[in-house]
Amino acid sequence: MALSIVVLAAGQGTRMKSDLPKVLQPLAGRPLLAHVLERCQELHADAVHVVYGHGAERVRQVFDDSQVNWVLQEEQLGTGHAVLQAIPHIPQDHDVLVLCADVPLIRTATLKDLLGRLEKAPLALLTVEMADPAGYGRIIRAEDGAVEAIVEHRDANEYQRRVREINTGLLAARAEHLRAWLGDLKADNQQREYYLTDIVAMAVAEKLAVAAVASDDEDEVLGINDKLHLARAEAIYRRRQAEQLMRAGVTLADPARVDVRGTLECGRDVFIDVNAVFEGRVVLGDRVKIGPNAWLKDVELGDDCEVLSNVVMEQLRAGRACTLGPFARLRPGVELDDQAKVGNFVEIKKSRIGKGSKVNHLTYVGDARVGEHVNVGAGTVTCNYDGVNKHETVIGDGVFVGSGVLLVAPVEIGAGAVLGAGSVITKSAPADKLTVARARQVVIPGWKRPEKKTVK
Ligand code: UD1
Ligand code: CA
Repeated sequence: MALSIVVLAAGQGTRMKSDLPKVLQPLAGRPLLAHVLERCQELHADAVHVVYGHGAERVRQVFDDSQVNWVLQEEQLGTGHAVLQAIPHIPQDHDVLVLCADVPLIRTATLKDLLGRLEKAPLALLTVEMADPAGYGRIIRAEDGAVEAIVEHRDANEYQRRVREINTGLLAARAEHLRAWLGDLKADNQQREYYLTDIVAMAVAEKLAVAAVASDDEDEVLGINDKLHLARAEAIYRRRQAEQLMRAGVTLADPARVDVRGTLECGRDVFIDVNAVFEGRVVLGDRVKIGPNAWLKDVELGDDCEVLSNVVMEQLRAGRACTLGPFARLRPGVELDDQAKVGNFVEIKKSRIGKGSKVNHLTYVGDARVGEHVNVGAGTVTCNYDGVNKHETVIGDGVFVGSGVLLVAPVEIGAGAVLGAGSVITKSAPADKLTVARARQVVIPGWKRPEKKTVK
């Protein structure tokens, strides 16, 4: 059956107390809405309609390139009214799934289960038992267990308020029925809103079956209304990611202190220490070790690489057995060949470091091609920027760069060359020779230390 999904995302999210619209609040580094759209993709929906309203411009801007149909709900007159805005875009023979942008942790398997119920009933609800159901719509069942209605908390009587099975807000329905029900909605309730939930009683009145799928996981249906919910969702998300990693054989020093805000693929026997943050797509080879407080974004590390503590890296590719850190910053565009070593207080950007080469201490390397088995001494700087343009530094195999050398690019150092400490290299240096470019040390004959004048 063809599937249309309606994502409700028009609400203001007053309780966030934020200038950022609720659906743009970040969970694991991505807007809430992005998580829900990912579920839509996994369900291979034929069409996704996002009902938006609050923060309209900003929301659309953030999701500029996504393949969704934007449906503006100018006034937020209730969840029923919201779905009603999307219904003209949905063919009669579709199944419709209603999701909420503020319920981002929902599992795809649960949604498939819910949609499966439409084979036998024109309406299927996702419910959950809650220890504290206050504030939610209650699922009212007949004596035989059949669903009769959803009654909102504020419209419920004392008896109904004792029900702990609640409406998650997510449901599935066949389009032709949904269209008819929505057309009949009335705003005769406490809030003067068009409640989507009123369609349940309509189906029951027509003697149509209403299916209910009870989720056994309170976490997946968590609706996010404020920053406390947001933090709870973040913790749930973190725990899920950590569990997935550990099931795949990764050792985590503390599963509560690793953040995967993208995808992380690990080889065998990977170890990750506390407070590591992974963003974008990160791939770690076998036996890779990640030290404490590392931040990796869009990184690939080969087998046996070791990242020591406090290393920050983005868009980096490393071969096998490289060592990085502690305290190194690798900006975008760095490639490390096998066994390369980047040490403490080193910054590298857009450069290639050859096999077995070492850049160990207090150094800046930018726009450079460094050969194999090169040793870059402490305090070396590639002066790659003339204030207008960037220039390249090329260092051949086996070069030894003494400490405190300034390489004023563009400059090329021949293989096997040695550069004397403190040199300012402005011209290319030949292979296998010692080049020194600094003032010679002199001793001034007859020099006397000044003496303090005596004041009379
Ligand atoms: C809704 C349900 C309630 C359920 C609860 C679960 C109704 C009437 N009630 O209540 O049974 O237990 O969710 O969290 O449906 N929205 C719009 N346009 C509107 C109104 C809402 O897009 O005009 C969106 C909101 O942005 C939100 C979602 O719909 O994503 C739910 O709306 P909300 O106001 O939070 O509904 P609740 O009162 O919490
Ligand atoms: Ca809500």
